[in-house]
Amino acid sequence: MPNKPRVYVTRRLPHEALSVLSGKTDTTLWEGELPPAWEEIIRSVSGCQGLLSLLTDVIDERVMDAAPGLRIISNMAVGYNNIDVPAATKRGIMVTNTPGVLTETTADLTFALLLATARRLTEASEFLRQGRWKTWSPMALTGLDVYGATLGIIGFGRIGQAVARRASGFNMRVLYTDRRERPEATEIGAQFVSLDGLLRASDIVSLHVPLTEETWGLIGQQQLGLMKTEAILINTARGEVVDQDALMDALRHRRIGGAGLDVMVPEPLPPDHPLCDLDNAVLLPHIGSASVATRTKMAVIAARNLLAGVSGESPPNLVNPEALGGKPEPGN
Ligand code: NAP
Ligand code: GLV
Repeated sequence: MPNKPRVYVTRRLPHEALSVLSGKTDTTLWEGELPPAWEEIIRSVSGCQGLLSLLTDVIDERVMDAAPGLRIISNMAVGYNNIDVPAATKRGIMVTNTPGVLTETTADLTFALLLATARRLTEASEFLRQGRWKTWSPMALTGLDVYGATLGIIGFGRIGQAVARRASGFNMRVLYTDRRERPEATEIGAQFVSLDGLLRASDIVSLHVPLTEETWGLIGQQQLGLMKTEAILINTARGEVVDQDALMDALRHRRIGGAGLDVMVPEPLPPDHPLCDLDNAVLLPHIGSASVATRTKMAVIAARNLLAGVSGESPPNLVNPEALGGKPEPGN
């Protein structure tokens, strides 16, 4: 009986996912609560045909070269900016992600963050807990109306569209920008505009682009300067899409109304970071997809992708089909 394919899994996963691999792979599991160090990944992936990574793991050429027999890197996330995909493709290594299954959960969180930021929920809660609530006051803790506001969505893909669908219940006008006009927008009732037009017209701007060379720093000082002074920025995409220093400056000087961030730089954000001093920033620890059901589904999908890849099949969520061009057999 041939040896089972060796795989390295960089974190403990729900048992539903591990049982996909059980008996079919020779699995090494990183048991730590915190991610394995990059050097540890390099050490452990050696001799493996499959790697199941998380978005916290930097998977670069050094990692790939430590495992010449590596066939697949299965990321447990829809975003895969932590992986050097061109380097993987060059080596014939397949890269997979977990799209779709987390769309609605992430859109829910985006809307929760949007409401919390517009209506200053975390600030109001702190106000109460600190014993500062002395009376009902006409203008205390007043925020921005979400109902009837203009929502600008940057990146009108799966999550962007799911956020837009939620906006209709709030009677919002929805604008979007993307690399191209999306046919789905007509049914959703969203209008395609330029990035600058969107920033000028929106009361709430929500980011849903992947992190790529093009989107790195997409929202900087100039773009923030186009936003209305009472407008809020919501980011559940990736921290690097926003120039965070420019954002902190805009928040500090009240050049925009507020920001709701589920993603930031660095992650984890230390509690003494200047962003934490800003009362008009609502900060969450990257929990967009964090429901029990969705995280379990993501882990199962990642395990299935991994198993398909090491079994010589084309995995369902392949992001670099060019990699199938031909991986030399080990030893060739
Ligand atoms: P998606 O369906 O691929 O949507 C992304 C959209 O952005 C696509 O329409 C894409 O256009 C567009 N886009 C790409 N580059 C652009 C650019 N330079 N300018 C304007 N639009 C651009 O992805 P998704 O499933 O919605 O996920 C989006 C991102 O959300 C992920 O990549 C991930 O980083 C983040 N995310 C975060 C969490 C969290 O926990 N906070 C959870 C899930 C996802 P094309 O189709 O032409 O590429
Ligand atoms: C989470 O951030 C993801 O990309 O799935």
